[in-house]
Amino acid sequence: MRILAVESSCDETAVAIVEDGRRVLTDCIASQVDLHRIYGGVVPEIASRKHIEAIYSLADQALEKTGLTRQDLDAVAVTYAPGLIGAVLVGVNFAKAAALALHKPLIPVHHIRGHIAANYLAFPELKPPFLCLVVSGGHTMIVDVKDYTQMEILGTTLDDAAGECFDKVARVLNMPYPGGAALDKASQNGDDTKYPLPRSKSGGNPYDMSFSGLKTAALNLIHHAEQIGESIDVESLCASFSAAVSDTLVPRVIQALKETGYNRLAVAGGVAANSRIRRDLTEAAKSLGAELYLPPLSLCGDNAAMIGAQGYYEFLAGNIADMNLNAYATKSILGEQL
Ligand code: KG4
Ligand code: ZN
Repeated sequence: MRILAVESSCDETAVAIVEDGRRVLTDCIASQVDLHRIYGGVVPEIASRKHIEAIYSLADQALEKTGLTRQDLDAVAVTYAPGLIGAVLVGVNFAKAAALALHKPLIPVHHIRGHIAANYLAFPELKPPFLCLVVSGGHTMIVDVKDYTQMEILGTTLDDAAGECFDKVARVLNMPYPGGAALDKASQNGDDTKYPLPRSKSGGNPYDMSFSGLKTAALNLIHHAEQIGESIDVESLCASFSAAVSDTLVPRVIQALKETGYNRLAVAGGVAANSRIRRDLTEAAKSLGAELYLPPLSLCGDNAAMIGAQGYYEFLAGNIADMNLNAYATKSILGEQL
């Protein structure tokens, strides 16, 4: 089954063709990052307009690159939530038009379910159930992936997402948007013990997390140094910050692995590219004897192939939309309106 998959929830316009949920025939991405960089973050109105400009030619490109015709496509899958509403709407409207014109099923895909499904593309042998750490720009959670479309959230951030904090701290350090990757790079030669930063402890659910205290502590440290004319060891601050984020995530995930009895852990989302988190998870999984699935960096960030992968399993589960499909800025991974 060949699915034309569409993703436009933030600042990447992407169209892919994926076969049987596992094989990427093509994954075409037009990134808007350079445009938003001058503003230090995504400007929603600009994002929507750029999606409209890019989406049609990306779809043509996807067909050209694979040598397929429109008739070779069996369904259209699209990110319908969550994201910048104007941006998601562009993809949803395009996908609706394509499905209508081709007389093919329209499959709505939750963006975070897509991130999890990136693992199916990277690891053909991976099948649910498994545990997944989701760390993106807007979401941070530990998910029990019981089946391809049946999930339970074991823990979540109570405030900021990990990616948001990386971006905020990087911005204050004058790194280009989106700052996570730049901060990661800068941390490579830093001393991760130089700046003591807090690790959150949550009183309630042991798998819940908090990052706002850590973010504020890092920002205060930078501003205070500026005020008293002290210079910051940027590399060490980045290393200390990355260590604090990782120390918030990894022990909870390991605890969840122990308690659920799963021995397979997958990681998903843009922050899954972080070298410190990857290293700590690798060590922790090894000492536990658990199988770790770390997607390649190209599949961590936003792309349409992951939407095609999840779309296949949504289709098999009967999750098909009609022309009333709407876009949603927020929606839980379980499909509930937030
Ligand atoms: O999953 P994603 O591409 O988009 C969302 O769905 O949000 O995640 C983007 C986030 C941004 O916050 C970006 O700074 C962060 O992932 N990111 C990283 C790294 N690469 C991307 N954060 C830390 N270290 C990285 N190497
Ligand atoms: Zn994403």
